[in-house]
Amino acid sequence: PASPLILAIESSCDETAAAVVDGSGRLLADVVASQIDFHARFGGVVPEIASRKHIEAVCGVCDECLDVASAAAGRPVRWADLDAVAVTYAPGLVGALVVGVAFAKGAAWALDVPLIGVNHLEGHLYANKIGDDAFAPPAVVSLVSGGNTLLVHMRGWGDYATLGATIDDAVGEAFDKVAKALGLGYPGGPVISRMAAQGDPDAIPFPRAMLHSGDLRFSLSGLKTAVVTYVNQERAAGRALNVPDIAASFQQAVVDVQVAKARRALEETGAPTFCLGGGVAANPVLRAAYEDLCAQMGVRLVMPPLASCGDNAGMIALVALDRYRASRLMSLDADAQAHA
Ligand code: KG4
Repeated sequence: PASPLILAIESSCDETAAAVVDGSGRLLADVVASQIDFHARFGGVVPEIASRKHIEAVCGVCDECLDVASAAAGRPVRWADLDAVAVTYAPGLVGALVVGVAFAKGAAWALDVPLIGVNHLEGHLYANKIGDDAFAPPAVVSLVSGGNTLLVHMRGWGDYATLGATIDDAVGEAFDKVAKALGLGYPGGPVISRMAAQGDPDAIPFPRAMLHSGDLRFSLSGLKTAVVTYVNQERAAGRALNVPDIAASFQQAVVDVQVAKARRALEETGAPTFCLGGGVAANPVLRAAYEDLCAQMGVRLVMPPLASCGDNAGMIALVALDRYRASRLMSLDADAQAHA
């Protein structure tokens, strides 16, 4: 049909998510069930738990998604009304991906509709459309999450080149590990940014790794070690930790490097637009720093709404609509893949 209804499923990490998009690109529903509480006590995502929780959640999340879509559409959106089923097939925790992929295959087969496989990272690029309908490439995109840190040159829809990536930890991972060292729990990003708001970003001179590397690569593990070493030294000396200052100084070290590399990427590519994706893109200090950078450089800044920075199926549905139109489908034989 000219105006298809597509259900998209996302299960690459610790969110079970489903969304429905219509032919105009409107998201009729965008439902996320987070498992974070089940992982928090372990200080990070436990892959085996993630898989099991996806299995428990996926039917309910899809049913709820269809209910929400029905309410938004003002008419029933039932399984039988779907024209395609889409799913994230890579990259991510393979045992988690498998749940969404198997479920989507079963649904597509039972409904006799096409199956569409979507790359999770491409989903994060498309999430910028959720905040701004007019968003279009060319653009430089910074993808910063718990598993990824990279700069992408988005030359067109479906035409991407990686400009540089982390050589060790991801930015979100660094937030999570620093939070763990400070005893702040998991996930680290939100709590560190809340603490940092009360602290002095210039209090402790943590390293800005790769700032002068002359390329667009990142390294986060040295910064994480520097924070852990500092914390251990302060504790050994019997001094009370100033957690807000540590959080603010760590966060500023991250932001300074992110902004410097973004500037370089924009200069190298001449792209007129800069945009973001991934859980760390919700960080308020990072967002404010990009506002300043883009204002200075005369570059258009597009940021996903806070709720669409982290993992969601809305962004997967938007990619799926383009795939559907281009008849780029996935075979029922295809498998989940840990790497893109
Ligand atoms: O994209 P996402 O939901 O999925 C994964 O890649 O797992 O990103 C989650 C990551 C976590 O590492 C979390 O600590 C980080 O995003 N994060 C933040 C903030 N909110 C979430 N990092 C910095 N500042 C935030 N406000």
